[in-house]
Amino acid sequence: MRSLLSVPASQPKMVEKALTLDCDQIILDLEDSVTPADKAAARTYLKDFLSKVESKKRISLRVNELSSAFAKADIDLICGFNPQPLSSVILPKIHNLDDVRSWAAKLPAGMQLEVQIESAMGLIQAPHIASHPQVISLAFGPADFMASAGMPSSNPGTPWPEVANALQWPLMQVVIAAHAHGKTAYDGPYFQISDDLGLSSSARTARALGVDGKWVIHPNQIALVNEAFTPSPEEIAHAEEIVAAFNASSGATSLDGLMIDEASKKVAERLLERVTQIRK
Ligand code: COA
Ligand code: MG
Repeated sequence: MRSLLSVPASQPKMVEKALTLDCDQIILDLEDSVTPADKAAARTYLKDFLSKVESKKRISLRVNELSSAFAKADIDLICGFNPQPLSSVILPKIHNLDDVRSWAAKLPAGMQLEVQIESAMGLIQAPHIASHPQVISLAFGPADFMASAGMPSSNPGTPWPEVANALQWPLMQVVIAAHAHGKTAYDGPYFQISDDLGLSSSARTARALGVDGKWVIHPNQIALVNEAFTPSPEEIAHAEEIVAAFNASSGATSLDGLMIDEASKKVAERLLERVTQIRK
């Protein structure tokens, strides 16, 4: 998974368009991008749309916080489908493992859950949250996290190096918590839609930290994020060389001045596994 496109479920035109785009996953959002006044109509639309939709992409639904007045109707919508068209449910504002358990008890049995870590408490509890068997991924939510942690900027996409640097720390914590349990880790979206350079930099940094993919909020962001999360032909060739050089050696060896050992081989093999997954 490289790009996950968030689409307000109150915007049927955007939802239809999302099906035609090169994103790997579509997140139909009933939470913060839909006003309280529009949520009921959005659910009515989704009931019809999801019962008919045919797509090879993963299609997920982001619900409203469990403590909100909107969650019950979101749950009824999801439980009303047979067969179930959703690949997963995105849970926002998860602060601890009990939050996940409460959702799991209300959603269809075995439903895959993708959790947003977007508060100081959620970050502290992330290793426990990731341990839940139905949780398949953790996604860092920069905007809500900045509010919760008391970070000064209301714009997480800001190119200010201080803010970008500061966000790497919580993002890395999310990666560690997810990967410690063999789960997937995602970065949240970059909000400055017309800043391609900032988006690429944000996506490349995330990949360097071990992140598996990134949310996007606009069609123009998909290609850049896909590119950042797709190993280049040079990277693939280099990884293949490392594996071959290590396999031909007995223990540590060198390749064009680079020391290679068992750990380098593991890193290279992981990259090649990723390539195989993307090509699927
Ligand atoms: N998914 C699918 N299509 C989208 C889209 C999205 N997230 N965002 C924009 N588009 C479509 C528009 O409908 C338009 O389509 P058209 O050319 O066929 O008419 C085209 O892409 C260009 O859109 P543009 O005019 O540049 O943007 P906009 O002003 O219509 O919308 C936003 C800007 C930010 C309101 C919109 O991108 C959006 O709602 N993004 C998602 C927000 C979200 O999900 N937030 C919650 C998660 S953080
Ligand atoms: Mg949020």
